[in-house]
Amino acid sequence: MIPALSTEELVNIANEFGTPLYVYNADRIAYQYQKLKNAFRDIDSRIFYACKSLTNIQVLKYMRSLGISIDCSSINEVKLAIHAGFKEQEILYTSNGIDFSEIIEAKELGVHINIDSLSNLEKFAKKYGHSYPVGIRVRPNILAGGNLKISTGHDKSKFGIPIEDISQVIHYISAYNLHINSLHIHTGSEIVEAAIFLEGIQVLFKLLPQFDEVTHIDLGGGFKVAYKAGDAETNVNELGQALKEAFDEYEMKSGRHLKIWFEPGKYLVSDAGYFICKVNVLKPTASTLFAGVNSGFNHLLRPMFYNAWHDVENISNPKGQLKSYSVVGNICETDTFAWDRNIAEISEGDLLAFHNAGAYGFEMSSNYNSRLKPAEVLVTNGKAQLIRRRETFEDLLRHQV
Ligand code: LLP
Repeated sequence: MIPALSTEELVNIANEFGTPLYVYNADRIAYQYQKLKNAFRDIDSRIFYACKSLTNIQVLKYMRSLGISIDCSSINEVKLAIHAGFKEQEILYTSNGIDFSEIIEAKELGVHINIDSLSNLEKFAKKYGHSYPVGIRVRPNILAGGNLKISTGHDKSKFGIPIEDISQVIHYISAYNLHINSLHIHTGSEIVEAAIFLEGIQVLFKLLPQFDEVTHIDLGGGFKVAYKAGDAETNVNELGQALKEAFDEYEMKSGRHLKIWFEPGKYLVSDAGYFICKVNVLKPTASTLFAGVNSGFNHLLRPMFYNAWHDVENISNPKGQLKSYSVVGNICETDTFAWDRNIAEISEGDLLAFHNAGAYGFEMSSNYNSRLKPAEVLVTNGKAQLIRRRETFEDLLRHQV
């Protein structure tokens, strides 16, 4: 059975901890991880949780207890990972556009590093020569991902070293004895088709003869989950099988065995998360019935930023008659979570739960309009535990001088 929290459990948790509130179901995280492990059981793979999707320290600790490694996108995420107990060799830092000093810091911490520009790669080559193996992020010029904002591998993307510039990398290897042990691509988020990953690895296979010291290929993250009934998700079993065939064939032809690294974020935490808020105001108008909640895009940005769909459930009246609502926030500009959505009849004071709120939910929240950030709760073995307290007014003033 797929682990999910019942409406009753969610109501109880919201009553205990207040709203707005993020709630994460640890069992669902473990279930998703198991699905991935199972799908990749026949390939020599390693999974790094892309913690940018949800960095609460208790979630990181939980990930670690499951045996997952961790992928970080800033030096602070690296430090959080260390704080959560990850060992250096379990940490991967895939940087982009950063000052070289951050790369030095990551090197000193002893973590795996992917470098994404020729500029930083040259500095790294000059400073460290062959002494510290490093990965490079390649821009394969492939268009992939759910929408342009989360598409990162195409030929106008800022990410990675463009494939057409690889000769310069080869030059650094010969000029400075640079030690490159990994080729990395991450072409986007919400990639449904296994074929996109295969297209990416064919690009990398072509490069490999020039990279004698590469021991692993890093395929990034980007596995899609379903956001609503009938929504497509990445068939990870099919992907695992296709990768096995491609890597076996490559090994037969070249005699080289390569490990495969993955960096999933959404796949592990998206549907483990719920965002619960309370309906403050019902506003019937000629065109639309608005349900105004005690939150806004400052707490869950995805609908306004990406037009993302999140199922909305009235957990106070789950069996009520369906009616059409626009669920809106209280921010001082257009702030719509769901447009003309059929939801069980809402009364003021009802609790609404947004599904798939685990990934890039709390993580992208802000204090816009001087609103306070929500609390976070993690449910493990049926027990709900506060893992981030709700902000208070004093928090707004804390860093102001
Ligand atoms: N690896 C790298 C290098 C990445 O840049 C990302 C995501 C991941 C792994 C994890 O991707 P995932 O498996 O979560 O799709 N805020 C957006 C998603 C942005 C993803 C950025 N990079 C959203 O809410 O949809």
